[in-house]
Amino acid sequence: MRTLEDLDAVMSKPSAALVQFMRELEGDIMLLGVGGKMGPSLARLAMNAIREAGVVKKVIGVSRFSEAGLKDELQAYGVETIACDLLDDAALQALPDVPNVIYMAGTKFGTTGKEHFTWVMNAYLPGRVAEKYKNSRIVVFSTGNVYPFTPVTYGGAHEGMSPAPIGEYGQSCLGRERMFEHYSHKNGTKVAIYRLNYAIDLRYGVLLELAKSIKEGRAINLAMGHFNCIWQGDANEIAIRSLAAAQSPANFLNVTGPETVSVRYAAEQLGKRLGIEPTFVGQESETALLSNAAKCMQEFGYPSVSLGQMLDWIAEWTLNGGSTINKPTHFQEREGKF
Ligand SMILES: NC(=O)c1ccc[n+]([C@@H]2O[C@H](COP(=O)([O-])OP(=O)(O)OC[C@H]3O[C@@H](n4cnc5c(N)ncnc54)[C@H](OP(=O)(O)O)[C@@H]3O)[C@@H](O)[C@H]2O)c1
Repeated sequence: MRTLEDLDAVMSKPSAALVQFMRELEGDIMLLGVGGKMGPSLARLAMNAIREAGVVKKVIGVSRFSEAGLKDELQAYGVETIACDLLDDAALQALPDVPNVIYMAGTKFGTTGKEHFTWVMNAYLPGRVAEKYKNSRIVVFSTGNVYPFTPVTYGGAHEGMSPAPIGEYGQSCLGRERMFEHYSHKNGTKVAIYRLNYAIDLRYGVLLELAKSIKEGRAINLAMGHFNCIWQGDANEIAIRSLAAAQSPANFLNVTGPETVSVRYAAEQLGKRLGIEPTFVGQESETALLSNAAKCMQEFGYPSVSLGQMLDWIAEWTLNGGSTINKPTHFQEREGKF
């Protein structure tokens, strides 16, 4: 796993279950907020599944397309694109109606000092989108940050637990969930709330951040001593198949890997592969931001890429100086300030 082509080939290869799902799914798929870290690979995965299924179906990617070249890249892959600022209500209302919507737009970093914008983006806009797409099935990207920290021996917060987000980012994401939930009640819209914890790509994510710290000789803070993660290809597949899990009232789903991963363990394993001893500061806390994904695994099966495989790939990518996206997760944050 050394080049972007290798990464794309693995990340965008649909499973037999996803191909079958595309045969059964009625209508086109729209990805709102396609221009971020996950959207492009999700769009490519969907296109590949449609091609393998031999069905006629559009994938429509909507974003402002602030990253140069992405619009053309997606179009070359067969994805239809619409440049749109979703906060421009006239532009939102002018978007075509589609039966299947995956809602990925949101904001996290820069919340501190600009809280009002985070709330308009993460809580107000979802209400507008829920009304616009009241006749669609909607998968709503959310986050494990809606949960409080739980004891690391607990196995992670499950969907039946009451949310209690720490800080305004997590609170605004709960606002997003509540808006979709409300309009699901009001209009009977089928909604799946997809609470994700840390997608792992080779170009960004918690494991890459640990590997970079080790390579650059920076000590790793153990205060947030545990986390969950899932290969982004698996997270993308679950997002698409979650269209079938959309219900009214809304269905909540934690999406992450099966392990409560120890930061110390992951760093030591990466260190071995990189040939560098990691250094640490602080001590593991008794609690961490953790989710229990048992419901997701029952519905969709265990992820296809294991933690060990991700550690191998991340180490190889780091050793070979693979390209990175400079968007840190700030997974070590314990005050909820992003
Ligand atoms: N990646 C993870 O590990 C992770 C974990 C938990 C939750 N999530 C959530 O899952 C979702 C997708 O993840 P991601 O990592 O791909 O997020 P991301 O990198 O923040 O991507 C979201 C994209 O939405 C688009 N967007 C933002 N404002 C918009 C607007 N006003 N109009 C149209 N498009 C807009 C942006 O692309 P343009 O600049 O092109 O408009 C942005 O890049 C996000 O909501 C994120 O909070 C992700």
